[in-house]
Amino acid sequence: MMTCNKIPPFEIELILAHILKKSREYVLAHPERTLNKTQNSKFNQLVKRRENHEPMAYILGQKEFYGLDFKVTQDTLIPRPETELLVEEIIKLEPKNKTVIDIGTGSGNIIISLAKNIKNKNNFFAADISEKALRIARRNAKNHGVDKKIKFIKSDLLNYFFKNKKSLKIVNCKLIIASNLPYLSQKIYATTAPNVKNFEPKSALFSNKDGLAHYEKLFQQIKKLQNNCNVPHIMCYAEFSPEQKPSLAKLIKKYFPKANIKFRKDLGGKWRIAEIKL
Ligand SMILES: C[S@@+](CC[C@H](N)C(=O)[O-])C[C@H]1O[C@@H](n2cnc3c(N)ncnc32)[C@H](O)[C@@H]1O
Repeated sequence: MMTCNKIPPFEIELILAHILKKSREYVLAHPERTLNKTQNSKFNQLVKRRENHEPMAYILGQKEFYGLDFKVTQDTLIPRPETELLVEEIIKLEPKNKTVIDIGTGSGNIIISLAKNIKNKNNFFAADISEKALRIARRNAKNHGVDKKIKFIKSDLLNYFFKNKKSLKIVNCKLIIASNLPYLSQKIYATTAPNVKNFEPKSALFSNKDGLAHYEKLFQQIKKLQNNCNVPHIMCYAEFSPEQKPSLAKLIKKYFPKANIKFRKDLGGKWRIAEIKL
């Protein structure tokens, strides 16, 4: 078994399993197994990347989310366990004949988990401003057999839908918006760990106006959908950073004074999801 002083044995086992295309259990059960020359050089490369603080998910090229494996690259955020709460809340609604849009889809982890777990018929859309992220999301959808169920679109927030209202059946529809948009403020982004700041895309993490600029723009667009596009039934789920709860609540009330708003805590007991029912 290969070892390395700077990296925990658990991670070495995962790297070896990745190189051998076997499970971690296989690696543990075969301590006598040696690597050939190519595998050995790959091992040294990957260990070096890890020593340089690159996240394991990028080294292995995948991350588990909601019980599914997602391909990730440095063009996509690494899905976080706390985002599973957003998926769970939407699944609980048991949506049927609705339009479900995931804004800022990244690797597609949210919309693919929804499409896999919601058996009723719905229109699923995944939007991102990054073409590179969308490419990964499409691949993940294919790997999970839901690529025919989801339409992937390049869009700055909801912009695409304003231009394509009819073809997307957005008029008169019942809409569910799932959003895990960039929400780190300047201050928090500056203190983020090197494994995040040096490797994950800033465009997926940082937002102006104390981290709420993306959500403010999204709320403006939702208001426009409500008022100008005949979409009366909208539910919006938004993930945020716990300290943003008071400022986010204020922002939601500014745009939707009559909305029914609920906040949910993640498993770590931190405020994480806003549920806005219009
Ligand atoms: C926090 S990441 C979330 C990724 C993924 N949904 C997840 O939960 O792991 C935010 C995503 O929003 C995308 N994004 C940033 N600005 C955007 C915009 N104006 N319109 C659409 N997507 C945007 C980024 O490219 C990134 O993929």
